[in-house]
Amino acid sequence: MPAEDDKSQKFNVKLIFAIIAAALGSGFQHGYHTGVINVPQEVLKEWLNETYQSSYGSYMDTSTLNLLWGLTTSIMNVGGTIGGLIVGVTANKLGPKGGLFFNNFLVLVATIFMGIAKPITSLEVMIVGRFFIGINCGLNAGLCPMYLSEVSPVSLRGAVSSVYQLVITISILIAQIVGLHYVLGNHTYWPYIFILPIFFAIFQVITLLFCTESPRYLIGVKGNEQKAEQSLKFLRMSDDVSADMTLMKSEDAAVKALPKITLSDMYKTRQLRIPLIIAVVIMLAQQFSGINAVIFYSTDTFEKAGLKGDNPKYATIGIGVVNVLMTIVSLYLVEVAGRKTLLLIGFGGMAIDTLLLSLTLYFADQNDFLPWVCIILTFIYIILFAAGAGSIPWFLVTEIFNQAARPTAVSLAVPTNWIANFIVTLTFPSIEALIGPFVFLIFVALDVVFFLFILKFVPETKNRTIDDIISEWK
Ligand code: GLC
Repeated sequence: MPAEDDKSQKFNVKLIFAIIAAALGSGFQHGYHTGVINVPQEVLKEWLNETYQSSYGSYMDTSTLNLLWGLTTSIMNVGGTIGGLIVGVTANKLGPKGGLFFNNFLVLVATIFMGIAKPITSLEVMIVGRFFIGINCGLNAGLCPMYLSEVSPVSLRGAVSSVYQLVITISILIAQIVGLHYVLGNHTYWPYIFILPIFFAIFQVITLLFCTESPRYLIGVKGNEQKAEQSLKFLRMSDDVSADMTLMKSEDAAVKALPKITLSDMYKTRQLRIPLIIAVVIMLAQQFSGINAVIFYSTDTFEKAGLKGDNPKYATIGIGVVNVLMTIVSLYLVEVAGRKTLLLIGFGGMAIDTLLLSLTLYFADQNDFLPWVCIILTFIYIILFAAGAGSIPWFLVTEIFNQAARPTAVSLAVPTNWIANFIVTLTFPSIEALIGPFVFLIFVALDVVFFLFILKFVPETKNRTIDDIISEWK
């Protein structure tokens, strides 16, 4: 039966339930905690300084304060890297669903730490909380796209897996709104900003209880065909899951015929080395496109472009809204246009866009019209990023490896993303202080390199089975 006519290849209530259960809780922590620290920055910095004063008797100078602030924000990336590194063991021991379920324990611990930081006036406790939530997010970034891609039918795999990124973008937007001064981003209410995410953890724990484990994990790791079949029947809402079972069993047989794969085997075998390099480079590409510099310094950029009063903040929220809307469009595009095309358009377009942005920002004060061009270019940048560069890297890595190598590959790709994110967010402000708007030229050069890499090495994975995709490198 052609895939388009096959009911098991379509969305149904239970599949949607599984997608929401997996993606809402985990994507929320990732996006929200990435975004939340930026908006009420001044309020939090003042608190840091007052806390320091009450512990050590004097206020910090600006450079110590900035350093401490840098530590508070970036410690999450350290946690994210560690979380990413343990995705493989977690997925193999607990399964992607089991891993996501227990990962909420870390949200609880982190919430307690971050929630009590203000009442007990402790900076250290806040930093430890950010570290724990980082580990949680690193695990989420590997486990959630893995689960989504493993439960979805081939023809929907891209769209379903992109839901993780969609939730991230929605949560960044929520964080931006929650952090506004008259919402929770003020001296009285800011601790609640860090307590709110616990509700998403509770939601996930409850909903996952009613979800099934990934059928691929049940066959491939647990060797339990019966449970895998039950899981497929749940996900496809059909009693006839023989086509999916045959596909998964044949993939599993191919995997079992090979010896167990370690990271060093992956590097030595050409068939695995090439996809491994692709997985790592695509994660570097996502972060070195400069997305977080654009998103989180956009208020600054808009001020430099000439917006006055609260307008830069609202324009930043506008960026968040466009990011969400375009990610929704990308769910459709990813199955129609394909992954490779969207990545090429994204990185090629972002290279041109950031080149123009750099120049217009430089000349912005010389002409009344140019500030508007800067703002328009920032919006176009977000559209290009959200078309594919935002969502595809998270799941492409799960598409170019089979069950034997997938968790190990994800364990390398996800930390790469967090480290690259760390480098950009930490270095962008100081490079910008040094060379002004020309800082964006660094992203131009990198985008060009990534465009060429994608053109030459990344396969189109749309509508193809994993076996078919990996046969490219045989
Ligand atoms: C991706 C990036 C993340 C960024 C987000 C913006 O998820 O990994 O760092 O903040 O996109 O939409």
